[in-house]
Amino acid sequence: MSNGIEGKVVVITGASSGLGEATARLLSAQGAIVVLGARRADRLRSLVESLTENGGRATSLVTDVTCREQVQALVDAAVQTYGHVDVMINNAGLMPQSRLERLQIDEWDMMIDVNLKGVLYGIAAALPYMKQRKTGHLINVSSVAGHKVGPGGAVYSATKHAVRALSEGFRQEVKPYNIRTTVISPGAVATELPDSVTDPEAAARIGKLYADVAIPADSFARAVAFAMSQPDDVDINEILYRPTRQEY
Ligand SMILES: NC(=O)c1ccc[n+]([C@@H]2O[C@H](COP(=O)([O-])OP(=O)(O)OC[C@H]3O[C@@H](n4cnc5c(N)ncnc54)[C@H](OP(=O)(O)O)[C@@H]3O)[C@@H](O)[C@H]2O)c1
Repeated sequence: MSNGIEGKVVVITGASSGLGEATARLLSAQGAIVVLGARRADRLRSLVESLTENGGRATSLVTDVTCREQVQALVDAAVQTYGHVDVMINNAGLMPQSRLERLQIDEWDMMIDVNLKGVLYGIAAALPYMKQRKTGHLINVSSVAGHKVGPGGAVYSATKHAVRALSEGFRQEVKPYNIRTTVISPGAVATELPDSVTDPEAAARIGKLYADVAIPADSFARAVAFAMSQPDDVDINEILYRPTRQEY
């Protein structure tokens, strides 16, 4: 019997570390063909090597999600190499939090470009292929910060709320094409994400939260596998999860 994962062609952005890497590893171990994008070529190369050594099928392409042509090239590479794309996981993101009064405008721009426009470019690249085949699954990564706002997190939260709004609009519009839509909103998960924080006050707050409560990245990978492995007529739209110890 199919596990809903084996043989599926899965494109993952932000696959060079953290949640994306953990997802690539779990899905590959369960028989998916993974097509991995991120900017760090060395990290992608060693991940592909590790997956293929373990019997998986994987390929990668250096991809900056702020460049729509590069996101299109990643999805095109999946189709050219493996014939189609079953699942698009828009995961790339960063979280340089700071209070608005600090006017870290370049970081605001970056979060909007990566966390929001990067997701839109992923949709633009994958939707025409999925529409044509009348099947597919879009998985977008939001956050607890896509449900709540706290001081220092306004712009990050805005991008993650936007990902949820966008995903719900997408969900409603793709009914004629038999495409599933899942938004996953994790709480604190131990990855390189806190490294993107440059503001000392935010870094101290986030560093403490992650040190106190963060859980491993395979928690996210299992949520992806759960959504993917449902029967085709079951669409898991939202998953919000936290470390059991996390209050926020
Ligand atoms: N960890 C958490 O607690 C948590 C909680 C809620 C939501 N999230 C979300 O989960 C997603 C993954 O983050 P993570 O926690 O796994 O952090 P991470 O370990 O820092 O991974 C982020 C990934 O995004 C990639 N990335 C960053 N900028 C990019 C760009 N311009 N183009 C392409 N890829 C880019 C990075 O790769 P390169 O640097 O190689 O490009 C890396 O692979 C993010 O959307 C984040 O907001 C994380």
